[in-house]
Amino acid sequence: MASEKTLRDLFHDTLKDIYFAEKKILGALPKMAKAAQSEELRAAFEKHEAETEDQVERLEQVFKEINQPARGKTCEAIVGIIDEGQEIMKGYKGKPALDAGLLAAAQAVEHYEISRYGTLKTWANELGLSEAVKLLDKTLAEEKKTDEALTKLAETGVNQHAEAA
Ligand SMILES: [Fe+2]
Ligand SMILES: [Fe+2]
Repeated sequence: MASEKTLRDLFHDTLKDIYFAEKKILGALPKMAKAAQSEELRAAFEKHEAETEDQVERLEQVFKEINQPARGKTCEAIVGIIDEGQEIMKGYKGKPALDAGLLAAAQAVEHYEISRYGTLKTWANELGLSEAVKLLDKTLAEEKKTDEALTKLAETGVNQHAEAA
């Protein structure tokens, strides 16, 4: 029998998408930290790497709440965003605009995550998954805070440094 494809299925599919994405991000953040020239940007990436580890665990708890194994499904969107970040790392290695490019790539990642977690939280609420709502909201807040911290870094030096060749 074909699956009914209800909101619950969509929630589960999207959970697999973000689980894959978080693991991919967990692999990319140390490389971005290593590549960053500014100490503050490096510290921001390292801080978010630790947060991302917690976020992966939170997703595993959400899988548990819907009685499903924690399993990811390839998310082409995050693969593309992270590939672009790697292109910047290669193309701008040792150049003044490297950090501005890394920062922009990281913000693209955060915006993707904010979109996903916002949707998942809304759906979890609709589905009456109260524990999931709390877990997803906690991560959503972390992603938003990270995005804001990156914006601040961009405004307080990283972009100016990129202009001064
Ligand atoms: Fe995340
Ligand atoms: Fe994030």
